[in-house]
Amino acid sequence: MSSSALWRVRSYVRPYAAQMITMTLAALIGLGAATVVPLVTKAVIDGPIARHEHRGIVILAGLALGLGVIEAASAFLRRYVLADAATGMETALRDDLYAHLQRLPVTFHDGSQSGQLLSRAVSDIAVIRRFVGFGLVFLVVNTATFAAVLVLLLQLNVPLAILVAVSSIPVIASSRSFERDYRAASRKLQDETGNLTTVVEEAATGIRIIKSFGRHPLVGTRFRSSARVVYDRSMDQVRLKGRFFAILGLAPNLTLAAVLLGGGMAVGRGTMTIGGLVAFVSLLLMLSWPIEALGEILAMGEEAASAAERIYEVLDTEPEISDRPGAQPLPHATGRLQFRGVTFAYPGSQQEILHGIDLDVEPGETLALVGRTGCGKTTLVSLVPRLYDVTSGSIELDGHDIRDLTLDSLRGHLGVAFEDPILFSASVRETLLLGYPDASDDEVASALDTAQANFVYDLPWGLDTRVGEQGLSLSGGQRQRLALARAVVGRPRVLILDDPLSSLDVHTEALVEEALSRVLAGTTALLAVHRPSTLALADRVAFIDGGTVAAVGTHSHLLDTVPEYREILSQEAEEVSR
Ligand SMILES: Nc1ncnc2c1ncn2[C@@H]1O[C@H](COP(=O)(O)OP(=O)(O)OP(=O)(O)O)[C@@H](O)[C@H]1O
Ligand SMILES: [Mg+2]
Repeated sequence: MSSSALWRVRSYVRPYAAQMITMTLAALIGLGAATVVPLVTKAVIDGPIARHEHRGIVILAGLALGLGVIEAASAFLRRYVLADAATGMETALRDDLYAHLQRLPVTFHDGSQSGQLLSRAVSDIAVIRRFVGFGLVFLVVNTATFAAVLVLLLQLNVPLAILVAVSSIPVIASSRSFERDYRAASRKLQDETGNLTTVVEEAATGIRIIKSFGRHPLVGTRFRSSARVVYDRSMDQVRLKGRFFAILGLAPNLTLAAVLLGGGMAVGRGTMTIGGLVAFVSLLLMLSWPIEALGEILAMGEEAASAAERIYEVLDTEPEISDRPGAQPLPHATGRLQFRGVTFAYPGSQQEILHGIDLDVEPGETLALVGRTGCGKTTLVSLVPRLYDVTSGSIELDGHDIRDLTLDSLRGHLGVAFEDPILFSASVRETLLLGYPDASDDEVASALDTAQANFVYDLPWGLDTRVGEQGLSLSGGQRQRLALARAVVGRPRVLILDDPLSSLDVHTEALVEEALSRVLAGTTALLAVHRPSTLALADRVAFIDGGTVAAVGTHSHLLDTVPEYREILSQEAEEVSR
């Protein structure tokens, strides 16, 4: 069971070394007690029974009872300690995986199916827990059982013991090939379970679209075929196990038959006592369970090994966007934001979305970004919180390259609202405090005012109302206003608003603009906008065309001098008026 990934899990097991040792000791004591019972049997048969001694029988029966009690107590202790160690290890591993997932850049998440991550965080870790908590201890105990029983067998009868040892060779040989095949089968099953999780997750989050398009049959087919693959892969595993277990079940019986034959003859020749043969057979029978369990443990070990492989694939992915060595915090920012020759292509893509972007946004200034849909506005604003890093060029906050600042301090100066107002399953208050946990009630109230989100006070439990997953229980415009309020809470030095008012009616939009303009007066803001009306908030406008800044100036200046700008805005205006 050589697996580097599984071996690496040991750092999570190490804090529980004491428990693991206790468990193993308890199991070994239980094993010792169980092993001695056949010897007591031998002593009873060959001694007191043969000599018709009642006292001796009672003493030996008492001894057997005592050994039974020890075995039971040790089993209890083992289970008790086990729960703590295995669950503790599982929790620590899951915590680390989660923390690492949070550190990994958006690029990683763009390229991974959430279902694969879910299945790794939930089921793969549980597989490892089962192996560490149960399999590992029994691997040690069963190996010890074999060794101990073999020593005792050797003492009882050397030729028969050698027979037993030789008969285990085919079992060992077949276990090697079983391990290899089972590992591969486990990996396939785990990957397919991840795919199935993705299908189920998408069906749940996309339920509205599926229903409205009447696409149940299509989604159902996808689900069934994915579930079918999981079934097939599980059956592959079962077949492998079945074949191996058949060998494991058969081997001890063949050995037993040979031992009875050889032992019977030995008793006949007088080289072995009847008690000796009974003890030999009892000890041999003690091996049949560990042999079967060994199959289960090997299977568990291989599942754990491939699960560990999947988990370390995530843990080994370097967070490309992280604090550089020597990154400094920026305690106070005035909010000057500069783009210097920024070029950007999405990782793994050849296509440059942005090139040669030069922009200066003065402290307190509001710069709007206007351009055709798909021209790269969202991409450009995503570079400021370092969701992606520029491909070349740089972005500076107060004259510092943002990559020289710690991520925490950079992001602490930013308030962000994206096109898609994602809300988490949390209360309104928790939602609002996401970026600025120390905000006072007054600050929260004023943010709600700014975003015209006072509707939250009318929700059944006011600010304590839980807004469902992704805020589904709210309307699109309500969600957008809540996301806007979340961005402005705590008055960040730099606001990044990606089309923040797109879902609002004209009246509400005007109210939000009015209140927002007060906030924007003291804040540097980057505002991606589609609607001409929102442009009223901007001091200047950058017109993005062909992946670069085609023109910068006031709205009216651009209207006068840039025909393409006029054209795009008039299209947008027409769409609004339609
Ligand atoms: N995660 C991504 N990976 C690869 N390409 C992407 C990714 N996100 C966006 N793109 C591509 O980058 C280009 C710019 O997209 P972006 O979302 O920045 O446009 P936009 O100006 O915000 O558009 P809109 O006005 O519709 O919001 C598009 O061609 C898009 O297909
Ligand atoms: Mg966009």
